[in-house]
Amino acid sequence: MSEQIFVIGAITEQMQAALETQFALHFETEIADSNAWLSAHGDSISYIITNGHDGVKDDYLSQMPNVKIISNYGVGYDAINVTEAAKRGIIVTHTPGVLNEEVATTALLLMLACYRELAFQEAHVRSGRWQTDGNAPLTRSADNRTIGIVGLGRIGEAVARKCAPFNAEILYHNRSEKDVPYRYMADLVAMAEACDVIICTTPGGAGTAKIINQQVLEALGPDGILINVARGSVVDEEALITALSSGKLGWAGLDVFEKEPAVPQTLRDLPNTVLMPHVGSATHETRAAMGALTVDNVLSYHQDGTVISPVPECAAIARLKS
Ligand code: 8YV
Repeated sequence: MSEQIFVIGAITEQMQAALETQFALHFETEIADSNAWLSAHGDSISYIITNGHDGVKDDYLSQMPNVKIISNYGVGYDAINVTEAAKRGIIVTHTPGVLNEEVATTALLLMLACYRELAFQEAHVRSGRWQTDGNAPLTRSADNRTIGIVGLGRIGEAVARKCAPFNAEILYHNRSEKDVPYRYMADLVAMAEACDVIICTTPGGAGTAKIINQQVLEALGPDGILINVARGSVVDEEALITALSSGKLGWAGLDVFEKEPAVPQTLRDLPNTVLMPHVGSATHETRAAMGALTVDNVLSYHQDGTVISPVPECAAIARLKS
């Protein structure tokens, strides 16, 4: 009998095709009562596939006691209790590396759309106002800006590289200084004061919850732009709405929100925002690469007990594919 995989959230057709030749797949979305199903069948599950949005509910870890791998279709794994998983000997894997450029492109797209007021310009043409009201007002240039990156990891470094053609000066805020040609700022408020733009690319989770708070937003100021392609949890959304509505912050370009897919109506109504529905990595090309790595982690473990890309918290219990 084939080994069983419990699939949480959507996977692509390619992922499904690659897995179903060797495994029996059970899709959470097709099960009416997942708790009842898991109490009957949970101990037969060897692998879980999930994603950054859905994660794994804490109860599921005890309901599927024989799981060996949780393979996360995404780089961010803050929706999975990795400490508890590691304690149970479960290896959590994710998809680092393959989405850096795409998410960085999304950050740049949001920044450029804020500076050049893309949504307004588009509406000006589509509505016919160009002909009736004349030219659109001038906007601000995205060139020669000081850009502060919060969380200079793999994605943050891709953002920094992609800002180079705009002649940007790059500052960054991390837990510790890195050996990079950018200016380290230990104090986030001081960085916000020094910057035109802040771009968040830090992991989510308790360690970064609401680090972009009222003080940071006000330090960024009335001409400042906040870009978030990390996690909604990183920004105090209420403080953000207040700062944007009162003019204490200029603009926000957001791909992620506190309670996705619910986005507060006030935020949706604000003209000084550019909003995207958490699609930072969502292109055919990048999702194909992420999907392949998600599948390969499972196949590799199934073949010889090794994995390709464990999360750091599980590195000690994982054997790496050589
Ligand atoms: C993906 C993400 O959108 O890779 C990430 O961390 O942002 C994710 O939320 C999702 O995992 C794709 O399924």
